[in-house]
Amino acid sequence: MAESASTTITTALRLKNKIAIVTGGASGIGEATARLFAEEGARMVVIADIQDELGKEVAASIGGDRCSYFHCDVAEEDEVQRLVQSTVKAYGQVDIMFSNAGIISPSKQTVAELHMSELDRLLTVNVRGMAACVKHAARAMVEGRVRGSIVCTGSVCGSHGGLKGTDYIMSKHAVLGLMRSASMQLAEHGIRVNCVSPNGLATPLTCKLRGTSEEETREAYRKYARLQGVVLTPKQVAQAVLFLASDDSSAFVTGLDLRVDGAFSHGH
Ligand SMILES: NC(=O)c1ccc[n+]([C@@H]2O[C@H](COP(=O)([O-])OP(=O)(O)OC[C@H]3O[C@@H](n4cnc5c(N)ncnc54)[C@H](O)[C@@H]3O)[C@@H](O)[C@H]2O)c1
Repeated sequence: MAESASTTITTALRLKNKIAIVTGGASGIGEATARLFAEEGARMVVIADIQDELGKEVAASIGGDRCSYFHCDVAEEDEVQRLVQSTVKAYGQVDIMFSNAGIISPSKQTVAELHMSELDRLLTVNVRGMAACVKHAARAMVEGRVRGSIVCTGSVCGSHGGLKGTDYIMSKHAVLGLMRSASMQLAEHGIRVNCVSPNGLATPLTCKLRGTSEEETREAYRKYARLQGVVLTPKQVAQAVLFLASDDSSAFVTGLDLRVDGAFSHGH
């Protein structure tokens, strides 16, 4: 019998029933990812951030039944522990940790002009905070026997040097080391750990750093993409995170640095 000409395409929700934490979820890449996780059927997305008003607004706009806000400064390990424990208490488990919160120093941070207190602050958030999130998510997943997924936000800066931003570049190299070690150590529990590493894109972080509007920032970053006709957006980064967080990558994808950079990293 001939097949019907009309084809029904059904797309299953990729995060059905999953409980996810998104650090830095009040803004930029984290916000876009929290929205996408909710659209993909996550039972609850917990946004963890220090921008309380904004974080609550984003959570409310996604919907109180699917998204909540939790104040958490990732630089404070006890706050990270409380975040994870309260998520487990409220929703039963943590399936996904998107450890994404990060900062950039206000000064140029060339080696010769390194501002050591800025460096300390940046490493405390970008490295120590990232490690605390991976640590406490891993503990909760192991204790709950959850074959979970941990995704860390790296950067193309994690794979090459630069003429400025030394502290930031150092921090993103460290994130790769954390992810690679955690992926090996947690593999026996079925827990996957990966990085998503974007190239520069317009978010509140980069707009503020450059002192330019979203449109101007987007145009400034256009030149970094070898892949023509596209400009990287938070939503596109979120789609890469979704792949790593969901069962789409569950077969064997762990220890991967997924660069979302339009082939930027392959030579300059
Ligand atoms: N925008 C880019 O060009 C780019 C490129 C590569 C990687 N990244 C990385 O992406 C991640 C997200 O950055 P973004 O561009 O979306 O920036 P963003 O400033 O829009 O979002 C970062 C969020 O992290 C939160 N945050 C900062 N310090 C925190 C802390 N101590 N505890 C909890 N939350 C904290 C902020 O309040 C903010 O909501 C960062 O790790 C950044 O390094 C960004």
